[in-house]
Amino acid sequence: MSVHILAIESSCDDTSASVISDGKIASNMVASQKIHSQYGGVVPEVASRKHQINIIPTVHQALNQAGINKEDLSAIAVTKGPGLMGSLLVGVTFAKTLALALRLPLIEINHMHAHVMALFIDEPKPNFPFLCLTVSGGHTQIAIVNDEFNMEIIGRTIDDAAGEAFDKTGKLLDLPYPAGPVIDKLAAAGTPKYKFPEPDIRGLDFSFSGLKTSILYFLQKQIKNDPDFIKNNLEDICCSVQTRIVDILIKKLIKAARETGIKDIGIAGGVSANSGLRNAFLETAGIQHWNAFIPKFEYCTDNAAMIARTALFKYEKKMFVGQDITPEPRLRL
Ligand SMILES: Nc1ncnc2c1ncn2[C@@H]1O[C@H](COP(=O)(O)OP(=O)(O)OP(=O)(O)O)[C@@H](O)[C@H]1O
Ligand SMILES: [Mg+2]
Repeated sequence: MSVHILAIESSCDDTSASVISDGKIASNMVASQKIHSQYGGVVPEVASRKHQINIIPTVHQALNQAGINKEDLSAIAVTKGPGLMGSLLVGVTFAKTLALALRLPLIEINHMHAHVMALFIDEPKPNFPFLCLTVSGGHTQIAIVNDEFNMEIIGRTIDDAAGEAFDKTGKLLDLPYPAGPVIDKLAAAGTPKYKFPEPDIRGLDFSFSGLKTSILYFLQKQIKNDPDFIKNNLEDICCSVQTRIVDILIKKLIKAARETGIKDIGIAGGVSANSGLRNAFLETAGIQHWNAFIPKFEYCTDNAAMIARTALFKYEKKMFVGQDITPEPRLRL
């Protein structure tokens, strides 16, 4: 019998719905909230109100595009956390209500688990155990993924996430939020002529807060001599910052691969959409003889397709939950 799962993701500022039909992503709709760019970051109260407006049309579009009637669904899946409480509440409440009305099983999903499972949407898929560097707006971590449900985090950021490093740099440069994709584009036309210091962090952990401070001091110094320094050198500044962030990430990944001896390696999360990181990762994989895996662009930043793919793994094992589930903003892996 065919299996069709509707998945809902609303952990931050994107409302997304996806249908996975017999193992293939049949739709992946994302309603983004542009309004936050004027505030320089996501405003939680605004985000949850926008989710309320967007969720019904987004779910309709996902079902329509997949050509599935809601009566034909096999299960409903939803992000339980981590994320913003108000945002999660909209998705969880909607999913619970729909599951109750349609008498369908409900599946709860950890958003960070799903970022990694995005590697299983398309071919080729990694073999267990593999290493995954997950780099997003709120997380930067390296995990040994032992199977579909079990991963061990062997390195994590001790302060900011890589996505935050991009976004906070964007604030210093007066770029719109989220700055990651903007810096990515500008960096393509620049050279890495400014050298920012490398953080001295032992083991497999990361740190990005020192980088942010050194960029701030660097800019303050340069602006004293040339008030238009940022405007005149924007592409080179972006390229220099991106090069340093990518370098930090790749060096730790090489260390993790050496220490574990694992050769199947993936990257995931919003920052894995960065072209500098994708290129450096593929180049390193060639040199280190890794089997490299990267999700398609649309499965890197927040999306419900990754929730749907993870939900299929759980559906196959009948890992369902009851109507008593609640969102968990600080849910851990
Ligand atoms: N091309 C890009 N280059 C660099 N950074 C990018 C790019 N595209 C997106 N990002 C960054 O990715 C982050 C968003 O990723 P994602 O949507 O996975 O994070 P999140 O859901 O907010 O956080 P988390 O997944 O940790 O809860 C933002 O910080 C954004 O700037
Ligand atoms: Mg995310």
